[in-house]
Amino acid sequence: MSVFKISVGTAGVLLAAFLGVAAAAPERVADEQEAKKVQGERSAAMKSMGGAMRTLKFYTAGRGSAEDAAKAASLIAKTAATIPSLFPAGTGMDVLSDSESKPEIWQQWDAFAKAAKTLKGKAAVLAAALAAGDKDKVGAAFADVGRGGCAGCHRVFRQKR
Ligand code: HEC
Repeated sequence: MSVFKISVGTAGVLLAAFLGVAAAAPERVADEQEAKKVQGERSAAMKSMGGAMRTLKFYTAGRGSAEDAAKAASLIAKTAATIPSLFPAGTGMDVLSDSESKPEIWQQWDAFAKAAKTLKGKAAVLAAALAAGDKDKVGAAFADVGRGGCAGCHRVFRQKR
């Protein structure tokens, strides 16, 4: 019986992957206290990526070490993968007065999750350019992380206060 269950579960996962079904948004938070906690984690994650972008900017300006730049690119790729989990429903600007998260995040969840994936992909391209030590490619990949990755999502889903 358990073998049967496992195979059915596996088939479901494979089918979802085959059909390209996106994962659903995380479940709604229970209350405002939980929403605030999530918002704190989200803020810390976003700020850590902001710090990594500053490190990378220094590097592209000819300052700082290649090692720090590689760490920063890897932090962005790893953090990007966690973005969807930091946005459970009930944590947007309609609930939290100091949030900059637009309702569109949950109305267009697939597009939002895709924007996080896009950032992850662009950060990986940057990491590869850094590993190859190709300055021109690093410069272009860094610009693309900022414009296509961060701003690509912010433009649509974040409303600055
Ligand atoms: C998939 C969407 C998405 C991507 C990609 C993304 N962000 Fe954000 N970011 C948001 C949203 C939404 C907010 C507003 C969060 C809130 O206030 O509830 C935000 C907020 C922020 C903040 C403000 C945090 C605070 O609490 O003050 C910073 C800084 C930030 N992002 C930096 C970045 C950087 C740097 C990148 C790229 C390396 C990035 N973000 C990529 C969606 C994204």
